[in-house]
Amino acid sequence: MTKHIYVTRQLPQEAIRPFQEAGFYVEMWGSEESPIPRERLLEVAKTADGLVTMLSDQLDAEFFQQAGDQLKVVANLAVGYDNIDVKTAKERGILICHTPDVLSEATADLAFSLVLATMRRIVESADLIRNNKWTSWSPLLMAGSEVYGSTMGIVGMGSIGTGVAKRAKGFSMNVLYHNRSRKPAVEQELGVEYASFKDLLQKSDVIVCLTPYTKETHRLFDAQAFQLMKKTAHFVNVSRGAVVDEQALVNALQTEEIAGAGLDVFEKEPVTADHPLLQFPQVTALPHIGSASIQTRYTMMELCLNNIACVLKGEKAKTPIPEMR
Ligand code: DGY
Repeated sequence: MTKHIYVTRQLPQEAIRPFQEAGFYVEMWGSEESPIPRERLLEVAKTADGLVTMLSDQLDAEFFQQAGDQLKVVANLAVGYDNIDVKTAKERGILICHTPDVLSEATADLAFSLVLATMRRIVESADLIRNNKWTSWSPLLMAGSEVYGSTMGIVGMGSIGTGVAKRAKGFSMNVLYHNRSRKPAVEQELGVEYASFKDLLQKSDVIVCLTPYTKETHRLFDAQAFQLMKKTAHFVNVSRGAVVDEQALVNALQTEEIAGAGLDVFEKEPVTADHPLLQFPQVTALPHIGSASIQTRYTMMELCLNNIACVLKGEKAKTPIPEMR
């Protein structure tokens, strides 16, 4: 019988064509921009054999409990899968896949862009011209922090963290990292140094958060963490918004406990211009575009669909989440 794959956002035709040609019935939610409504998501899980989901879809216990027995595999178009209740999926025998590695370089590029943008006040400076406020060249106009040779602290040294460290080394930065486990190979190859969380916060000129969002990392960056940072430090988050206590970050910016922040992620997305963190000129905010290069996003789509095709053909999935390997 023809297997049914449902994709919860509209993907380009060329991304799904090979799978249609391979004999799958591929159906998609009709919009590229708006998420599938909850009721429709629950409904499609009753008929689809495989689902490609987005990080904006909540696949909670209710979702898995109501899914039909035919649903065998879910592939999330992201490396993070904190939107998925893995425990209930496991109980229902539904395999969860994600897209590790293929997005590491694109995400590291974006993280490093935010480091540069925030430390050198790039967006603020560009806005100065756009808002017709550039009156003359002056010695300290839009003067930011020196990136070259400064100290970067990376929290979460997976493959994206390693990519950011490589880029930082190109800028002669001294790189500290904090991670659940030490990475001797990375230390040796890149000359990065392991530090306790506290030491990293105290010593870094820029802190880059790349840790996955889990119960343990919930609001890891709280008031105390911001107090420990240098007053001249910049904080960059390309992980998940909930790793940060956003109110504590607002306070830290207001009281100038830190110098600025570059944020690709927020606790509740999407955010609008009236979000408290967007009121600070020293905040560079992006709409969760970590892995959004055209090449990488196509590769992620292909990997998700490949994972589903493999499972539905009775083969091994390519990139199941670590808990299901
Ligand atoms: C991911 O893959 O988890 C990223 O947040 C997407 O940009």
